Amino acid sequence: MPCTVIAGGFWGDEGKGKIISYLALKEPLDVCVRTGSVNAAHTIWFQGKRYALHMVPGGFIYEKCRLLVASGCNVDVRSFLEEVELTGVKNRVGVDNQASIIEEKHAEQDKASAYLKGLGTTGRGVGPAVEERARRSAKLARDVPELKPYLADVAAETNEAIGKGKNVLLEGTQGLLLSLFHGTYPYVTSRDTSASAICSESGVGPTKVDNVLVVLKAFITRVGTGPLPGEISKEEAQKRGWFETAAGTGRDRRAAPFNFELARKAVMINGATQIALTKLDCVFPSCQGARAFDALPAEAKEFVDKVEKETRIPVKFVGTGPDALDLIDRR
Ligand code: IMP
Ligand code: MG
Repeated sequence: MPCTVIAGGFWGDEGKGKIISYLALKEPLDVCVRTGSVNAAHTIWFQGKRYALHMVPGGFIYEKCRLLVASGCNVDVRSFLEEVELTGVKNRVGVDNQASIIEEKHAEQDKASAYLKGLGTTGRGVGPAVEERARRSAKLARDVPELKPYLADVAAETNEAIGKGKNVLLEGTQGLLLSLFHGTYPYVTSRDTSASAICSESGVGPTKVDNVLVVLKAFITRVGTGPLPGEISKEEAQKRGWFETAAGTGRDRRAAPFNFELARKAVMINGATQIALTKLDCVFPSCQGARAFDALPAEAKEFVDKVEKETRIPVKFVGTGPDALDLIDRR
């Protein structure tokens, strides 16, 4: 490792949660820092149980991992407390003093705005909460009594861990094409989702990062409105085994085949050093559960090779099923 940034390459839902859970157990991770907000859900399957986490970092499955919520985050206090309970991480999770708070009014504004509705937002209030922060009138974590036991200086803790050579993961949310700066504006989320922004939200400088791991799914999905090149119908997606519903909102995900041009853009803007290619088993069913590259059928191997050739970045991880350990580790 020691400091890795994990970022989504498409429109989110690439399977970052699954890759994080694998790294949490294998490295193992000492520190996992969550960025973004409750609009994003990271799905983690562990010991037969499914978690869809909106606030608690995905590294929670390794019981010694310190879990931190970055100062750039927008914290939904109720979701945070519920997930802390659900995952049993009360004594090892921290929230930065300066993380800002999503209040009930923000979710109401999000749902009531015809404009935001037209963008197909998640309705969790993140856009209005970010607006409030930009106006400098947002409530911060340090102003909320229920968060008092969790308050931390995330940048200080994270940099100290990096300085000691510990395994640190900065957990990005959503994907490059939902970035406020680099995505399909205005059909984007309210923040930059690139690796640089993940560092900035966490308080980690670019010289401290060793790896940028970009997660690409073997096909593309998108929820909400906006362009999706090569989009196929819901019926076709169901036929191909590509039909998904959103972990956070339950909405249907639109689907399209893998796109090399978009993959190159994601690799470029994130400054990727490694790629994780997930859900290969959904495109090549005989890959299901494979844990060695040689066990893959020729056409699946060719696809992985093509991703490497087109992006010039090594595919170090290949996802072959939902469990944390259904994965080919090519490092
Ligand atoms: P917002 O982030 O709720 O404002 O929604 C803006 C756009 O980003 C909409 O198209 C959402 O569907 C999309 N979006 C937000 N978070 C996620 C996510 O975690 N995964 C996939 N799409 C997301
Ligand atoms: Mg998701």
